[in-house]
Amino acid sequence: VSAAMTEKPWKRYTGGEAKGFVDEMRLVAMKLHTRQQAQEGEMEAKAPEEQRVEEWEPTLDGYLKFLVDIKVVYDTLEQIIEKPSFPSLLSDIESMGCGADGEFRNTGLERSEKLAKDLKWFEEKGYGVPEASSPGVAYAKYLKQLSEKDPQAFICHFYNIYFANTAGGRIIAKKVAEKILDSRELEFYKWDGELSQLLQNVRDKLNKVAENWSREDKNRCLGETEISFKFYREIVRLMLS
Ligand code: HEM
Repeated sequence: VSAAMTEKPWKRYTGGEAKGFVDEMRLVAMKLHTRQQAQEGEMEAKAPEEQRVEEWEPTLDGYLKFLVDIKVVYDTLEQIIEKPSFPSLLSDIESMGCGADGEFRNTGLERSEKLAKDLKWFEEKGYGVPEASSPGVAYAKYLKQLSEKDPQAFICHFYNIYFANTAGGRIIAKKVAEKILDSRELEFYKWDGELSQLLQNVRDKLNKVAENWSREDKNRCLGETEISFKFYREIVRLMLS
């Protein structure tokens, strides 16, 4: 275990250098990438999915497993957002005058329906779409439990799951599609509207919600980043199986 993993990474960003809370979440996430994954990464690559994407050897079966499992995660995330059972977060949101509609619904980043379309396409083409496996099921279960007891920590997963897909996810998509999908672009990587604007809207909302949080709430949220990486990486690894 390297120093960056043991020293509680968020401790380095609690001096107020970051402009909004999303910057803090981003800084912690970037440090947890390997040098091979992202320029700002600080970790050493060990597992295959931590190497440069160019060096990956994805398989179609593995990619289908990945899509099925990541869909379980988005399904769950989106169900939680639609019908949350975390009253304290709801009151944060309501106190900002957003009403019962909820701040994080219909952001345009939702992926469940897009993934359903992709899996339907594979099915129609006669590919065997597998059952969900333990990495996706385990992450979904964790998210459900966390959302019921710690909304701030849950928000860390909300941020990482959506933003990872728009950053590294798209890099991975392109390379993998070139290698095994005849460069087919999946719905999973298409957004209705200008993606940069959708992301900025969500950043603004996250920053606003976090303004009401104590430093302790923020640190608990930042501290979840490693857990999000751990779960997400297990699912990404399926592509290489
Ligand atoms: C951003 C690559 C996995 C979360 C980035 C960026 C790259 C990247 C290149 C920088 C984009 C920029 O310049 O702003 C990768 C690769 C991965 C990977 C190749 C291979 C598995 C993950 C995982 C997570 C994650 C597992 C968390 C679950 C994020 C977040 C950002 C990011 C939150 C910031 C996005 C933003 O500011 O808009 N990633 N990443 N990434 N990644 Fe990853």
